[in-house]
Amino acid sequence: MRKIKTAVIGAGFMGKVHTEAIRRLGNVEVVAVAAKTAEEAKGFGDLIGVDRTTGEYSDLLRDPEIQAVHICTPNVTHCAIAKAAVQVGKAVLCEKPLTMTAAEARELAALAESRSVANCVNHNLRCYPVLQHIRQMIAAGELGEILVVQGTYSQDWLLYDTDWNWRVLAEENGRLRAMGDIGSHWMDMIMHLTGLRITALCADLQTVHKVRKSPKHAVETFTGKTLHPEDYEEVPITTEDYGAVLLHLGERTRGAFTVSQVSAGCKNRFQVEIYGTRGGVMWNQERPDELWVGSRNSPNQLILKDPSLLKPNAATYADLPGGHGEGYDDTHKQMFRRFYRKVADASAPVEYPTFADGLRIMELLEKVVESAGRRGWVEVGGAAGAGA
Ligand SMILES: NC(=O)c1ccc[n+]([C@@H]2O[C@H](COP(=O)([O-])OP(=O)(O)OC[C@H]3O[C@@H](n4cnc5c(N)ncnc54)[C@H](O)[C@@H]3O)[C@@H](O)[C@H]2O)c1
Repeated sequence: MRKIKTAVIGAGFMGKVHTEAIRRLGNVEVVAVAAKTAEEAKGFGDLIGVDRTTGEYSDLLRDPEIQAVHICTPNVTHCAIAKAAVQVGKAVLCEKPLTMTAAEARELAALAESRSVANCVNHNLRCYPVLQHIRQMIAAGELGEILVVQGTYSQDWLLYDTDWNWRVLAEENGRLRAMGDIGSHWMDMIMHLTGLRITALCADLQTVHKVRKSPKHAVETFTGKTLHPEDYEEVPITTEDYGAVLLHLGERTRGAFTVSQVSAGCKNRFQVEIYGTRGGVMWNQERPDELWVGSRNSPNQLILKDPSLLKPNAATYADLPGGHGEGYDDTHKQMFRRFYRKVADASAPVEYPTFADGLRIMELLEKVVESAGRRGWVEVGGAAGAGA
């Protein structure tokens, strides 16, 4: 079988996750990797056994053999890399958030549409089997009319002022940090599961650490070391550590969610709760195989992922039998499998989030900024508010 040749751009956390997940597909080969510097790319290539490495991603775009690229770089670089790749006809799978601004996302989505290339923004969390089961339950009317959505995406990895990453800088990450990084997943998910659109919102943002300590040189593990002033420089921070958003989803549905990167003990607590006229559901990423189903008139249930018991479409997101955990890594595999079906066959269905979905999130993020800035409700129009 002739394998699809792909390239991974970015050699950090996501570069590794993407490479592993691509390799699990079987019909796609990572033939080249790029990073910010040739040295970093070479180190990554050595680690994963890929000979072709470069510090200039544009080298890879010139190769007609490479059909697709994965963009696993800081947010500020997404738009330029994605545009360059789409322009030469590559299929593009880009990390979230899609761009730095809605204007960039609009341009990118239009370009991808006009060139008819497969395009995906990596809201991989959609691919947990239990979440797909929830989606099917809602589509079948099992929760009734959706009345209330609520939840959180909370982490603790930026709790201390000594915690540092490129994400804390607006120029590399975008104006919103916790909202862009993890709130983007939450908003994408709630719309994906319910089929509803966020039509108005009211946001509150807080930057707990208005100054952070940036290490001057690489330290093995920054947190927990005894720091001396010569080890770091103090950097003013404008991106938020915490945010809360009240939501309207159409006329009757109401909701609220928080995001936080300073909530001690929350490692990756992505929780969604959806309550309708006939019942409710709750799911937490820290226990991904469990689904809580709530009922007014009968005992609540705790259901464990088991493909033989999931709705048929949701079962296609589970590769292992019941009792065999499937987690974060598997969501990437499921997403990429669907993306590469489209790369291999243009007539395949689009079963993954596209740049148009990425644009919707960028528009919502700009509404969050507007709302927080003027401390009030903002109506959502454009692509974000369109559709049902
Ligand atoms: N979907 C998810 O669950 C998820 C999780 C984490 C991160 N992300 C997203 O993935 C992206 C990368 O995050 P990360 O945590 O892997 O970052 P990271 O800091 O670990 O890695 C970034 C990599 O990008 C490379 N890079 C920077 N500029 C480049 C350029 N111009 N050309 C080529 N390579 C370049 C760096 O060399 C580095 O290898 C971000 O957009 C982030 O929001 C998504």
